[in-house]
Amino acid sequence: MDVSIIGTGYVGLVTGVCLASLGINVLCCDRDEDKIKALKNGILPIYEPYLGKLMENCLRKNERLDFTSDTKQAVSHSNIIFIAVNTPTVDNKCDVENVFDVAKTIGIEMEGYKLVVNKSTVPVGTVRQMKELIRSLLYQRGKNDLEFDVVSNPEFLREGSAVDDFINPDRIIIGADSERAVDLLKQVYASQISLGVPVLVTGPESAELAKYASNAFLATKISFINEIANLCEQCNANVLDVALGMGMDKRIGDKFLRPGPGFGGSCFPKDTGALVGMAEKLGTELSIVRAVIESNKKHKEKMVSKICKAAEIKEKSTVTVLGLSFKPDTDDIRESPAIAIISGLLGKKAGVKAYDPMAMDNFRKFLPHLDVTYCTDVLSACTRSHCIVLVTEWEQFSKLDFKQLKKVVEKPVFVDLRNVYDPAYVRSMGFKYEGVGVK
Ligand code: UDX
Repeated sequence: MDVSIIGTGYVGLVTGVCLASLGINVLCCDRDEDKIKALKNGILPIYEPYLGKLMENCLRKNERLDFTSDTKQAVSHSNIIFIAVNTPTVDNKCDVENVFDVAKTIGIEMEGYKLVVNKSTVPVGTVRQMKELIRSLLYQRGKNDLEFDVVSNPEFLREGSAVDDFINPDRIIIGADSERAVDLLKQVYASQISLGVPVLVTGPESAELAKYASNAFLATKISFINEIANLCEQCNANVLDVALGMGMDKRIGDKFLRPGPGFGGSCFPKDTGALVGMAEKLGTELSIVRAVIESNKKHKEKMVSKICKAAEIKEKSTVTVLGLSFKPDTDDIRESPAIAIISGLLGKKAGVKAYDPMAMDNFRKFLPHLDVTYCTDVLSACTRSHCIVLVTEWEQFSKLDFKQLKKVVEKPVFVDLRNVYDPAYVRSMGFKYEGVGVK
């Protein structure tokens, strides 16, 4: 079976490499020629656990994976074409230009049946509009007889666990109007389906909205527990036990109830904004999602005052930030809480030293205006620090040597924004401890 994937960003690359590893002949296409050249040499543009190894096997061993920057070649390579290009949100409006550019190329180049599978997160109704665009292009070419389908097949990959999320998803959602399209797409997912992964077949609009609604609900859970954490701090409750108690209710579930500095990443902020904007355009107010966006913004700002209060930060104080990526096991800093926290601290004229195992290059490159001292390890980052702040819960930050850190800090204050440590233990090491929603 052959498949083309257009867009080798995060979703496209993971989808392409995983499908190739499952025995499908995959041609990945991207208009960024430098990226394609690097990929042909086995160099990944993103960090994702296991992806590199998987790609190497596909390139070297079973040769089921290739790359091109020629979209026409990708269109002719297979009758199944995945679209996985980026759809940025600007002012709560999702920009789908890249998706329609690909649909246009398909309408102009196709010479036989095509199943167009949209994996990009797009406003409700986009798949139907793509269909109309392709139909009109075929009409203009006098090729009205050519058959095709366009379906929605949203992805639910999490950065840091994307390969596993693709191979073992909780569900596969197919938004289609034609049996033929559903049957063909099920053949692509034959491996996952044979493992018992449930498939939801619905209309395109429902599939498109299910993606936004899922992300918005997960973001809601996070903002909810963050607000409960704030309340816990005022009433001597422990948010970790509150979350445990909640999660024991199967209707609530114990996932995504970890309090922290607020959610970040390339999806939750983008998708909640796009969902609110889309609803507004359709005359429906999503007051809860709007409140989640506002709550998350305020929560990140609240972390700055938490840090300043804990360490009595004043001008020229030095604050150490451990973790810049929006979550562990990725170099992605998009909407990372570290950005709001560092900006807030610099605004108070504090000095900031930072260390992150993978994300410092991206921070330097995309945030050159932030005057941060980047350090090569934890110890140097904590030297002469008035306050150590754990922002991202990288594995290596769960084993800090407080005895050694005590010798190098200016002031022994530890603000644990991910509640990684037992407060009593850190205090026993001679540090003042401040968590999120814990005493
Ligand atoms: C998310 C969705 O989980 C995924 O299904 C979708 O396809 C893309 O967006 P991702 O953004 O990669 O995935 O990471 P995720 O693990 O969901 O974390 C998102 C943010 O929420 C991170 O900043 C994380 O630190 C935060 N988070 C997550 C919490 O603060 N508490 C939690 O309990 C879980």
